[in-house]
Amino acid sequence: MEADCGKVRDHDEGKKVVLNGWCRYIRDHGGLLFVDLTDRYGTTQLVFDGNLKKEAEELGKEYVISVEGTVRKREKDTVDPSNPTGNVEVRVESFRIINKSKVLPFEITEEKEKFLPSDDLRLKYRYLDLRRRRMVNNIEFRDKLTKTIRKFFWGEGFLELETPILVKDTYDASGSRTFITPSRMHKGKFYGLPQSPQVYKQLSMIAGLDKYFQVAKVFRDEDPREDRQPEFTQIDLEVSFKDEKYIQGLIEAMFKKVFEEVMEEKIELPFPHMDYLEAMERYGSDKPDTRFDNVLFDLTEELSKSDYNIIKKVISAGGKVKALKFSAEMGRKSQKIDKKKILELVEIAKNLGLKGLTWLYVIKDKIESDPPSIAASLSGVSKQMMSKLDAKDGDLILIGSDPSENILLAAMSRIGRIVGLVLRQAKKKYAFLWVDKFPLFEKDEVTGELQPMHNPFVAPTEETKDLIDSAPEKVLGKRYDLVLNGMEIGGGSIRIHNPDMQKKVLSKMGLSEEEIERSLGFLIEALSFGAPVHGGIALGFDRVVATLSGEYDIRDFILFPKNRRFESPLDGSPDSVSDKRLQNDYDLSVKNDKKS
Ligand code: AMO
Repeated sequence: MEADCGKVRDHDEGKKVVLNGWCRYIRDHGGLLFVDLTDRYGTTQLVFDGNLKKEAEELGKEYVISVEGTVRKREKDTVDPSNPTGNVEVRVESFRIINKSKVLPFEITEEKEKFLPSDDLRLKYRYLDLRRRRMVNNIEFRDKLTKTIRKFFWGEGFLELETPILVKDTYDASGSRTFITPSRMHKGKFYGLPQSPQVYKQLSMIAGLDKYFQVAKVFRDEDPREDRQPEFTQIDLEVSFKDEKYIQGLIEAMFKKVFEEVMEEKIELPFPHMDYLEAMERYGSDKPDTRFDNVLFDLTEELSKSDYNIIKKVISAGGKVKALKFSAEMGRKSQKIDKKKILELVEIAKNLGLKGLTWLYVIKDKIESDPPSIAASLSGVSKQMMSKLDAKDGDLILIGSDPSENILLAAMSRIGRIVGLVLRQAKKKYAFLWVDKFPLFEKDEVTGELQPMHNPFVAPTEETKDLIDSAPEKVLGKRYDLVLNGMEIGGGSIRIHNPDMQKKVLSKMGLSEEEIERSLGFLIEALSFGAPVHGGIALGFDRVVATLSGEYDIRDFILFPKNRRFESPLDGSPDSVSDKRLQNDYDLSVKNDKKS
């Protein structure tokens, strides 16, 4: 019988099988040698006895072997109920070593406490890391999702189109740079790698290909963050003659299918909506994790009247004060959030740039602190604070302040989420949320110039579009983000389809006529040949897969990801290129001090 290492069962007893796989665990019991033979599908226990046992003694961890043997039931006390093949074993009758393995750089095990290689070591030997069941599951889960999503869009009449990878720099994402690649045929000129298929999907709509989707690899040269990779995958789509509602409904239907077919769970539709301003005001984040009650309370006014001088200083420097409240079962009486954990939070807050994080406990109707002097300095305002927070006996209160509102909100919303996760207080497992009514522009903190909050192709809303000259910062865009469990998993918009409006938005960003013509003249021209109303969305697929799995590190769901410095310890990229090649092929040179 042809079999893989996950297939043999009780009813195969007595059958002859051929198995190929890796020797994961080897146990020598004197007269018998046991090997857990593993492949993508599972693990089967092999038994070598008699003369074969002697021969098998030369087997080492991760040797690749081919065996022939007979399936038999295991002795009762050796049954392994945690393994689907755990009732049986294969008594080996002959075997062949296909390949040996060097001593491994780390043990390939599912046991967390044993699996402690550094990130870079894991990535250097990613092909070994990928032999672990957990990683195989992640990769298979990703594949299942891709299949289901493709089937869904094909079923809805979408065409899967391939947009180019060698393109022009087209401002299709805000805040990140385009990777560029030189051309040998056109010395001194560069292609850009797409930050998204944005412009090309819009051109496809102008071409009349009214329903497009793609599982698209995209590239962004931006600052590293744990939920970012320099290349990642988008489930990208665009449609003509439809509005925001249609696109959001389509994505909801897609997730419904995913939940039915892959997750085997139900989700509630439609997903709730929240305005951008409300999200910022209530949660301090445009991607609130609505699994938890992480609402921020503003205590600026109350604390300005207190004797808590450190915070008063921040307030007089223009800063604000925000508080998080965690109810009694999470507060002092809870062992889950002890002082050690709180000190960790203070450290996290510091690393996020926050000037100060104070923690208080509510005991009966009084505030206590560690050291007590903080509570004493708040005694004059503690009643007002408690009433604003609706604080009760046992509650834990975390107070943050910083002169920069951006830092304050980012840090407090992050801390709220961490505490929520530690306490496992989720109201539901999957909290989807549409965030909309985003401003079209935001001011660059350094230069003060307007820049698009997302990309320059977002259409302004009908109600606000006339403000574009008089008060551009008040213009709202037909833009929507999709958030799942506090992770921004997607974003899209209805696009500008009028060439003059497109030019105007680009000029508000500070681009001259000439720069507009040079970078996006081809799109503006295309818009003037009969462009339909169109819009779409892109889901960050790596984030979708990780979040649906209940995980946060998107790298665990990417076959060969980059490390936190966006390098690949596996192949050594990015790497230098010889002077000769740079000069001959591209007429380029690297400054001496940048050579490695
Ligand atoms: P946006 O820039 O919002 O929109 O990107 C869409 C989604 O891609 C994911 N994402 C990332 N995932 C991993 N690593 C990164 N570096 C990274 N950057 C973004 C996020 C994000 O929500 N063209 C528009 C879409 C459109 O308007 O149709 C776009 O790219 O989950």
